[in-house]
Amino acid sequence: MLTKTLQSLALGFLVLIQASSTSGRVVTRLVNDINGAVTKCQGDKSCFPDMNSNSSWILAFRGTAAIGKPVYPAYVDGTGLPKRIQKGCMQVGQNLPCSNHFRNNTVLDNWKNISEVALVIYKNSTPVHHVIFNGSSSTYMTWMDKNKIESTSWVDIYNNSANYFGIFGHQENAMRRTFFMNHNYGTCPNDQGWFVAVDNILGDCMWEQTPKFPMFKYSTGNIMINWNEAKTDHAEYFAVFVKYNKST
Ligand SMILES: *[C@@H]1O[C@H](CO)[C@@H](O)[C@H](O)[C@H]1NC(C)=O
Ligand SMILES: *[C@@H]1O[C@H](CO)[C@@H](O)[C@H](O)[C@H]1NC(C)=O
Ligand SMILES: *[C@@H]1O[C@H](CO)[C@@H](O)[C@H](O)[C@H]1NC(C)=O
Ligand SMILES: *[C@@H]1O[C@H](CO)[C@@H](O)[C@H](O)[C@H]1NC(C)=O
Ligand SMILES: *[C@@H]1O[C@H](CO)[C@@H](O)[C@H](O)[C@H]1NC(C)=O
Repeated sequence: MLTKTLQSLALGFLVLIQASSTSGRVVTRLVNDINGAVTKCQGDKSCFPDMNSNSSWILAFRGTAAIGKPVYPAYVDGTGLPKRIQKGCMQVGQNLPCSNHFRNNTVLDNWKNISEVALVIYKNSTPVHHVIFNGSSSTYMTWMDKNKIESTSWVDIYNNSANYFGIFGHQENAMRRTFFMNHNYGTCPNDQGWFVAVDNILGDCMWEQTPKFPMFKYSTGNIMINWNEAKTDHAEYFAVFVKYNKST
C-alpha cells in the first residue's frame, strides 16, 4: 500500500548539494537565511528550513528506520551497506523508496574543515527536530557533544544534564542506544531524554523494544520526555549534515 504509492513517485529529480555550483553571494545569503531561521525557530519545530536545497549543508549520513540494519556500524565504517544505494536514501524531505542507510564516505572519511554539524530528525519527510553543533576540532565520532550545541529545537537541553550524549551512546549486552541524547535513567519507567536511535529489537526497557529496528525515537515537544509516554514518536529517518569552513 504505502510502498506502492512510494514506488509510483518519480526518482532522482532532486538536486541535493548545490554548495559548489552556487555563487558565493547566493550561498552567503542562504546561509544567513538558514542561520536566521534556526535562531528564529528556536523551539518551533515547524519552521526549520529545508536542508536539501540552496544551502551549504552537505548530507554526510542518513539513517533510515525499520530496515533491519543497525545504524551505528553503518555510520562508523559503512558496515552492512551495499556499494550502490537508492537515490531516495541520498536525500531528505521526500518520502522516496529507501531501504538502506546512506553514508557519504567522502565526508566521513575525510573529516576536515568542518565548521558546523546538524542532526535533523524527519517525520512524514518533514524536519521535526534538530540540533546544530559547532564542528570545530571535532572528529566524525565526537561532534555530537552537548557542550558544542549552537542551537536546537529542544529548548531545555542547555539547562539540563545528560547521562548519555553522543554517537556511541549506551551500548551494553543487548542494549543499543545510539546517537543518544538522554537526561537520566530511572530503572526504565522514569527514563527521560530527547532522541535515541535504538539499534536492535530487544533492549532492556519496554520503551525501546520494537518489532523493527532501527527505531528513531524522539520527544515530540520542545523539551525532554519520559520515554514511556505518549508524547514520543518514531522518525522515518534522521540526517547528519555538515557545513565546511568557507575557503577564502
Ligand atoms: C534555489 O533558489 C533559487 C532562487 O532563490 C530558486 O529559483 C530555485 O528554485 C531554488 N532551488 C531549489 C532546488 O529550491
Ligand atoms: C558527499 O559529500 C561530497 C563531498 O562533500 C559531496 O560533494 C557529495 O555531493 C555528497 N554526496 C551526497 C549524495 O550528498
Ligand atoms: C566554534 O568553536 C570554536 C572553538 O571554540 C570558536 O572559535 C568558533 O568561534 C565557534 N564557532 C561559532 C560559529 O560559534
Ligand atoms: C538556562 O541557562 C542559561 C544560562 O546557561 C540562562 O541564561 C537561562 O535563563 C536558563 N533558562 C532557563 C529556562 O532556565
Ligand atoms: C581547509 O580550509 C582552508 C581554508 O579554506 C584551505 O586552505 C585548506 O586547504 C582546507 N583543508 C582541507 C584539508 O580541506
